[in-house]
Amino acid sequence: MKISLISTSHQRNSQSKRISSILGNFISEINNKVEFFHLDMFDLKVPLWTSEKKENLNFWKNDYEIISSKLKLSDGFVFVVPEYGGMATPNSKNFFLVFNNGELFHKPGLIVSISSGNGGAYPVSELRSSSYKNSHIMWIPENIIIRNVNQFFPGKHGKLIPHWIDDRIKYSCNLLIKYTEYLKPIQNYINRKDFSNGM
Ligand SMILES: Cc1cc2nc3c(=O)[nH]c(=O)nc-3n(C[C@H](O)[C@H](O)[C@H](O)COP(=O)(O)O)c2cc1C
Repeated sequence: MKISLISTSHQRNSQSKRISSILGNFISEINNKVEFFHLDMFDLKVPLWTSEKKENLNFWKNDYEIISSKLKLSDGFVFVVPEYGGMATPNSKNFFLVFNNGELFHKPGLIVSISSGNGGAYPVSELRSSSYKNSHIMWIPENIIIRNVNQFFPGKHGKLIPHWIDDRIKYSCNLLIKYTEYLKPIQNYINRKDFSNGM
């Protein structure tokens, strides 16, 4: 089973990247056979989608195919999205425009929203309402919101991290693994040729 951990920050050494790898650890503890593809939108310099492919040639000619094929090989996704300005990040939306070649089709995804304060609800509602139509990602009904993320260190959390959150994360990660396993056969019924975009 392959799971992509996607970090959608616009910053170097971001909290999203740190949280992505912690989530990978949670998943490995549940199932040590899971293989990961780490995609950090900042580190990999994924450009803003444009119909002009003359800029960022290196990305469009080389990196794009490599990343797209790794996503295609993934069976499930963890999507870490920080709240910026009461919204999901531009990188989180851009991801769905750039990788729009069936990579996510009818595969389960877990939304993990983070905030350095008390936010984090808006990215969840934004992604649930507007990211799935053409990507056909299947957000599982559980999501995680990590507030006061700067204090989130499993085993030695700061005072503002609720004591129950690790159990909630383990529960959600376990469900993602199960959805990933049980949704796999649905790939046999997909017709992207005739119905590539949602209604
Ligand atoms: C441009 C910008 C806007 C932000 N706006 C919000 C916000 O509206 N609500 C919130 O809870 N946190 C906001 N924050 C704080 C981020 O949620 C917090 O810094 C988070 O750790 C950033 O994640 P990152 O390091 O992965 O980029 C904002 C941060 C930045 C950089």
